[in-house]
Amino acid sequence: MNIIQLIEKKGNNFSLTEEELKFLFQEYQEKRMSDYQMSSLLMAIKINGLNEEELFIYTKILLDSGKTITFNDLERRVDKHSTGGVGDKVSLLLAPILAANKINIGKLSGRGLGFTGGTIDKLESIPGFNVDLTLEEFVSNSQEHGISLIGATSEFAPLDKSIYALRDVTGTVGSLELIAASIMSKKLVTNSKYIFIDLKCGSAAFFKTKEEALKAAKLFKKIGLYFGRKIFVMISTMEQPLGNFIGNKLEVWETIDILRNETKNDAFLLTKEIASYIIAEINKVSFEEANMLVDKVIEDQSAFNKFIEWIKIQGGEIEVFLKQKRINTKYIYPIKTSSEGYVSFQEVDKLGYAVVDLGGGRKQLHDKINYNVGIQVLKKTNDYVKKFDEIMLVYSDKELSTKFLNHLKSLIKIEQNKVPFEMVIETIVW
Ligand code: URA
Repeated sequence: MNIIQLIEKKGNNFSLTEEELKFLFQEYQEKRMSDYQMSSLLMAIKINGLNEEELFIYTKILLDSGKTITFNDLERRVDKHSTGGVGDKVSLLLAPILAANKINIGKLSGRGLGFTGGTIDKLESIPGFNVDLTLEEFVSNSQEHGISLIGATSEFAPLDKSIYALRDVTGTVGSLELIAASIMSKKLVTNSKYIFIDLKCGSAAFFKTKEEALKAAKLFKKIGLYFGRKIFVMISTMEQPLGNFIGNKLEVWETIDILRNETKNDAFLLTKEIASYIIAEINKVSFEEANMLVDKVIEDQSAFNKFIEWIKIQGGEIEVFLKQKRINTKYIYPIKTSSEGYVSFQEVDKLGYAVVDLGGGRKQLHDKINYNVGIQVLKKTNDYVKKFDEIMLVYSDKELSTKFLNHLKSLIKIEQNKVPFEMVIETIVW
């Protein structure tokens, strides 16, 4: 087989066989195919797509490039992936709510990427929290305590890691097939029977429109079914930050408030809806009954206790965290409205980037994160505000310029009428 002829074949919109795909990716892994040749192939795939068979084969090639993890409690086990958002703390909330309902979760998670925060960075704001567990610890913690989380290292689907890095710099990230195969190859690393995909849609998401998100959801579902998994996809909005805080430590505090039954915001409502679909499916109960099971573990604190158990089992010094000051930055800047009306957010990704600018995320691989900084979101979409009401508070350890603060202000528009808005755009269950 000849690398150049196969690239040309895909470029001319012919499909590649299993043997040809395996050959190409093996040649790449073994460095007999160059980055520029692989980039050309990826562009051909981006332009011409992959048919179903090619999609499944490509996903399997990515998965087979690394280790897999075997759990033995599959009937009550779920895995989750979020396509990334601003203020997205669903993993932190969902895991203890499910574990308190005896549904286990063992998750490979990532760090912040671009404007999106990462679950691992949030958890590492708790002193001592350790994401470098051995695979044995990861499996046994999840099976015995209901929750375990480790970093998605290059042991798992390493080929996806190198191809993703290449896509990132060759304009080939935005292909639905490449995205779906990349994400699913990492979700198939564990043998979890149930997989939930939290698909964000909107200005601060990979998928900008409902149509794109639906197309992607169908691909996730097809891949999952092909590999014998049960898949549930929820498409939810990223036209406003989720919850009331953006920033690592601030989001852990928000999680604690919700789990202690002290806050019931949109982050809770979204998580409750997700958890209910999962519980309804696994417990074989109605959605309404599942709703009550979520409320129960919040009201009787068993979800909060699970959260504490999880943090401690991974070395987190939660007592130290709880004694620390919640707001611990040198400066607090209010962002106020200059007119009266209904709030709507513009380009929410820029709020995520602003938190990175404050030091709450990395601009370079080895940057150290300032866990304390972030933004508190006091008003949400379609809240009515008066002139000079505070909409956000910016927590910073450095003095901020008027230009920076005005930029933040420009991301909030005051409308004369409510804007069309739905938190959950589409739910594609099991
Ligand atoms: N996240 C991934 O892991 N892969 C993609 O291709 C896109 C987002």
